[in-house]
Amino acid sequence: MTTVCYSDRLETTPLLTVQKLTKNYRMPGLRRRTIQALKPISFELGRGELVVVEGPSGVGKTTLLRCLARILEPDGGVLLWRGRDVTHARGRELRDYRRRVRLLFQHPSSALDPRFTVLASVAEPVLLTGSRGAEADQLARDALARTGAASLAERFPGTLSGGERQRVALARALVGTPELVLADEPVSALDEAARDESLQTLVRLQAELGFACLLVSHAQVVAGRRLRL
Ligand SMILES: Nc1ncnc2c1ncn2[C@@H]1O[C@H](COP(=O)(O)OP(=O)(O)O)[C@@H](O)[C@H]1O
Ligand SMILES: [Mg+2]
Repeated sequence: MTTVCYSDRLETTPLLTVQKLTKNYRMPGLRRRTIQALKPISFELGRGELVVVEGPSGVGKTTLLRCLARILEPDGGVLLWRGRDVTHARGRELRDYRRRVRLLFQHPSSALDPRFTVLASVAEPVLLTGSRGAEADQLARDALARTGAASLAERFPGTLSGGERQRVALARALVGTPELVLADEPVSALDEAARDESLQTLVRLQAELGFACLLVSHAQVVAGRRLRL
């Protein structure tokens, strides 16, 4: 009976629970001056759910996503992953979290090291979080195939068009089947035609593969619940 209750609880626990999360930046040179980049925010995200994050420039959308990816450590509030507190997770726990939760950057070039082939760039997130070489390469090839970029595996980022680079960045975010993708204006660096196509690919893959997604985008997104900052 205890087991039944436990599994019930697991199934209804949100994927992500955010409670009064805040982030301040210290101003360099000004010892006690900080700016509140993210005002306390609370929300829940279900498994496989798409949520579009809206709000004016400077309101803290990027800061929120970076805190959720745990690239930044929040200054206040609580972040629960499947009910487990990961607000200040470290070491192995943080590595496991980062394997499941991925950030897709605003500028694809910032995710891609010019010295690495596309395949190496896409394999890196799973290599850093526990996969071995051959397995990581296979996962990377799978991810590239999903985003229509299989033929780019041996190329270097400097030789790619903007749209191609974005497909590679998307493959890097999706490698190893994450459960949550945090997409920060993923198409804002592209021209209009490539923007629509790229956004459609992301939303299609989100529905097909069933990962949850928090998407910051100024381009038109029809699907998804709205979260206003
Ligand atoms: N590294 C930083 N140091 C100091 N202030 C920052 C830093 N990054 C962002 N900010 C400030 O924090 C606020 C929120 O920024 P950001 O999260 O980038 O907003 P958005 O993505 O919604 O435009 C802004 O006022 C911005 O100037
Ligand atoms: Mg931003």
